[in-house]
Amino acid sequence: MASGGRCAVVTRFGGPDVFEIQEKPVPEPAPDEVRVKIGAAGVAYAEVKMRHGVYPGAPRLPFTPGFDFFGVIDAVGKDVKKFKAGDPCVGLSFVGAYAEYLTLKTDYVAKAPEGLDPVLGAGIPLNYLTAYQMLERMAKASKGDVILIHGGAGGVGTSLLDLVKDSGLKIYATASAGKHDLVRSYGAIPIDYRSGSFVDILQKQGGADVVFDHIGGKHLKASAKAAKRGGRVICYGFLAAVKDGPQVKRQTLWEMVKLRISSRVKPSFYGILVPLVSQKKYIARDLKMLAEKVASGNLKPNIGMTLPLEQVSHAHQTLESAGVTGKIVLVMNEDIQQTSKI
Ligand SMILES: NC(=O)c1ccc[n+]([C@@H]2O[C@H](COP(=O)([O-])OP(=O)(O)OC[C@H]3O[C@@H](n4cnc5c(N)ncnc54)[C@H](OP(=O)(O)O)[C@@H]3O)[C@@H](O)[C@H]2O)c1
Repeated sequence: MASGGRCAVVTRFGGPDVFEIQEKPVPEPAPDEVRVKIGAAGVAYAEVKMRHGVYPGAPRLPFTPGFDFFGVIDAVGKDVKKFKAGDPCVGLSFVGAYAEYLTLKTDYVAKAPEGLDPVLGAGIPLNYLTAYQMLERMAKASKGDVILIHGGAGGVGTSLLDLVKDSGLKIYATASAGKHDLVRSYGAIPIDYRSGSFVDILQKQGGADVVFDHIGGKHLKASAKAAKRGGRVICYGFLAAVKDGPQVKRQTLWEMVKLRISSRVKPSFYGILVPLVSQKKYIARDLKMLAEKVASGNLKPNIGMTLPLEQVSHAHQTLESAGVTGKIVLVMNEDIQQTSKI
């Protein structure tokens, strides 16, 4: 895997100003790789952690972040059969997508329909894949069930809400008060997590069948209380670590063990690329399906801000200060933008 053309490079760990825009040679794909001309790349919290040097398994300095992207296949290695030059695509790269060009293996790349807006396309892979895989293969919710989505106004939260909006589920979502209209626009009932008790509200409803929790740590215990007997508690993040430090991961694991032993609810963990729990074999298939639904207007990623690659520092600063609701997307290769229908 290699990034080329104009690239945003983290040369030292630190604040948003550590980025440098560097010009690198356009890389040649290996026999089992494609080269993607990137149209737009998502900006994710994982990349903020990488920039601070606190993301497990992150590459060594210097590196170009970029977890997910929309682009066009620009060249294919000699062993690649499922793509040809000119195919629009979406993909998960983990790193490297804050660049004009990226070479990578094709396991997590999917063809996208012609005419898919690049910015909406870049809003799909990380957030929608996470949301869809948890819903489809872990939540097992059916019509009439009650679900609780924490952080309903966030990236994965709005993707979950978008995916379940017409499903016949009764949906509750926690969010800060200023974002309740957004939550309501998906047909969900907002709960202000700063002033109200989601446990009380859900218990009055008889408990949730499924709870999605991205906070982790002790918060999981409250999520379990909000679930009914036999309900599922799906944890997929450790946001509590921002305030309470790295021990939150250990705490989360311990809470999950305790919940499993008590057997009142069924706890599980989702990690998009975490060995043992990821659904890697479905990634390309799920991405293709999600891209088709976005292109046809059935799903609409909530995009909060688009910025040119050169303003990557501003993008990170805005994300870190929670200065925008919705996904922040970096755009590059203007000729790809012009194919956009929106
Ligand atoms: N496991 C995986 O594969 C995977 C994949 C993607 C993301 N993640 C993780 O999932 C988490 C969320 O990602 P994201 O991109 O959706 O982040 P995001 O867009 O920044 O959204 C986070 C949301 O959390 C909400 N929040 C903060 N404290 C809360 C609390 N105490 N109770 C309820 N909600 C609270 C915020 O709500 P308000 O804005 O309303 O205050 C915000 O909307 C991150 O930790 C990320 O690393 C994991």
